[in-house]
Amino acid sequence: MCPDDHNHSGERRKHGRGAGVPGARPTAREAEIDARAKLIAVSFADAVAGRCSMRRFLPDPVPRGDVEAMVAVAERAASAGNSQPWRFVAVEDEGLRREMAEAVHAALDVMAGLPECRGRARDIRAIRNYATFFADAPVVVAVFVLPYAARSDELLALRGLSSDERDRLRQRPDLQSIGAAVQLLITAAHVMGYGSCWMTAPVLAAPAIEELLAAPAGARLAAVVPIGRPAGRPRHSPRLPVDQVLSWR
Ligand SMILES: Cc1cc2nc3c(=O)[nH]c(=O)nc-3n(C[C@H](O)[C@H](O)[C@H](O)COP(=O)(O)O)c2cc1C
Repeated sequence: MCPDDHNHSGERRKHGRGAGVPGARPTAREAEIDARAKLIAVSFADAVAGRCSMRRFLPDPVPRGDVEAMVAVAERAASAGNSQPWRFVAVEDEGLRREMAEAVHAALDVMAGLPECRGRARDIRAIRNYATFFADAPVVVAVFVLPYAARSDELLALRGLSSDERDRLRQRPDLQSIGAAVQLLITAAHVMGYGSCWMTAPVLAAPAIEELLAAPAGARLAAVVPIGRPAGRPRHSPRLPVDQVLSWR
């Protein structure tokens, strides 16, 4: 707990909505503190290695305070220039979750109808479930990325480089920042006893989902993260040995 949250006699300071009011929702600050308390209950290794993608969920609702705590952890992610280019929209409403999944199906229907995709029906069927199971989770966090342009981006644009050439030299610091936040979000969910899955397949329906969720101005859908108590056993995917992914010079 942060020393700022105590007065000189060690008493918890009463500030904000939830402070000291029985039954009140915790403030975001309190949620962050609760999350930290839960985080120190498991080792870093357990938090990181114990997590795996979960794709089936129990219907039990996820308290809003728990989602706030997860987002408070996600927000601790490093971000380019501390731009914090993320925005999170937590979708509890089942009708809205189903509409999001329908939008993904519709985007895949469009693909299936394209002459260029003729003969790829099997691939499209495989993507359908991979991209839509999120609707069955009691809460789905849609992660949005806000535009970010550092001085170097502006200078490269002035040089007249194409966006491909700029990406080659910059590698999307905005999306890298989002990735850091999503990894923390799913790790916090795991530590708090929830299953989750980082999903980008639903981004195929980004324009429709942005409209359904009334996305913050200028924000683009970057990922979708269903969260709920896991149904079924965790299955840990293998990783490459360190000596295959690390080299020294
Ligand atoms: C950027 C990214 C996008 C992903 N998109 C999806 C997705 O759309 N659907 C899905 O079921 N899993 C998705 N995953 C989960 C990966 O399949 C999973 O992380 C990987 O197989 C490793 O398994 P683990 O998370 O259980 O360790 C995604 C993961 C990442 C990092």
